[in-house]
Amino acid sequence: MIVSREQAERADAQDPLRALRGAFDLPPGVIYLDGNSLGPPPRQALERLRRTADHEWKGGLIRSWNGHDGGERWIDLASRCGAKIAPLIGADAGDVIVCDSVSVNLFKLAAALISAGGRRALWIEEGEFPTDGYILDGLSRLTGAPLSRLEPGTDLSHAAGGVLVKSLAHYKTAAVADMAAHERNAQAHDAAIIWDLSHGAGVLDINVKAAGAKYAIGCGYKYMNGGPGAPAFIYVDGAVANHLDQPISGWMGHADPFAFGRDYAPASGVARFAAGTPQILSLSALDAALDIFRGVEMAALEQKARALGDLFIVRAREAGLSPIAVNGRRGGHVSIPHPNGYSIVQALIAKGVIGDFRAPDLMRFGFSPLFLSYAEVWESGDVLRAIMETEQWRADEYAQAGPVT
Ligand SMILES: Cc1ncc(COP(=O)(O)O)c(C=O)c1O
Repeated sequence: MIVSREQAERADAQDPLRALRGAFDLPPGVIYLDGNSLGPPPRQALERLRRTADHEWKGGLIRSWNGHDGGERWIDLASRCGAKIAPLIGADAGDVIVCDSVSVNLFKLAAALISAGGRRALWIEEGEFPTDGYILDGLSRLTGAPLSRLEPGTDLSHAAGGVLVKSLAHYKTAAVADMAAHERNAQAHDAAIIWDLSHGAGVLDINVKAAGAKYAIGCGYKYMNGGPGAPAFIYVDGAVANHLDQPISGWMGHADPFAFGRDYAPASGVARFAAGTPQILSLSALDAALDIFRGVEMAALEQKARALGDLFIVRAREAGLSPIAVNGRRGGHVSIPHPNGYSIVQALIAKGVIGDFRAPDLMRFGFSPLFLSYAEVWESGDVLRAIMETEQWRADEYAQAGPVT
């Protein structure tokens, strides 16, 4: 266990991932504990954005859809990004595509399972990330399929024949579900699980295939560092994708979009889940950001994230706080309940330690293992302790809430 700054520095010197820090363009004087919400910019993503804008957009113009003068070929960027995400979640390269947002991808996937998949009901556990519930609610209103809430840990016999949406890593507690056990339970009751991997992909060692998971969605802007509003991914097992019809049957999910045929014919596999024109600027940044993962073991990332989080928990307790304890596997973030959590996070940000706040009372800190050092986490503990001991967070300026927390 690390109990001093010197030991933290020694852990950094021995960290096999330490060289990756240089791949990120982080502002000086900032300890960034929010890579679980918005990953910081990889240098190669910033460089790629410039190249895409100047060389491909400005120079290549519309020719860049087919690739022009050494530039990227835009038309298949969504599937190429998907192929880079696939090994991070244990999927086959052709079973992942990048498009739209998590919310929209969830709608398409859940709707496909309800309509073509013949499923009869929608289920979600209490306390899941709100958009997942909102989307299912909208789908329920549209289709008449009932939406019900399950207490976490409930046996899936209740959801027999239905569709359950479940986070792998919970956005508040960071508790990680046992994917394989849930899949066994679901399959025993003929339920289908759509996994929300938003807080797991890019930080946890995930193997959807080994766990028997067939459907998943997840964020590109968190641990994958694809940039603000980066498009999301969608995974559908290749063995079942062709049996699903998704309702946003746009031309980019068509088998032959440039034949301009009158009738819709879905593309083969997960490609049918694309809908409209891909967001090339965002995809370009994500594509470059994903290259950071090349040659990196996901198990090593998960292990470092855990160790950084463990260190922060110890330091937060020294500051008199009580982080949420997770029995078993934990994701890349740590949450601490406090009635004045918003003000404390603002005071931390003013001192250069950036975390976030989730209403009603959770301070949340992410430990992205690609760029954070043990020494920084140690340091953030000192800052937290000083703020708690001096009660600096009580200053009026730290009570002003912006629209995004
Ligand atoms: C678990 C989870 N699901 C879904 C979303 C929403 O994703 P999007 O904004 O891409 O729809 C988030 C965003 O933070 C999230 O944390």
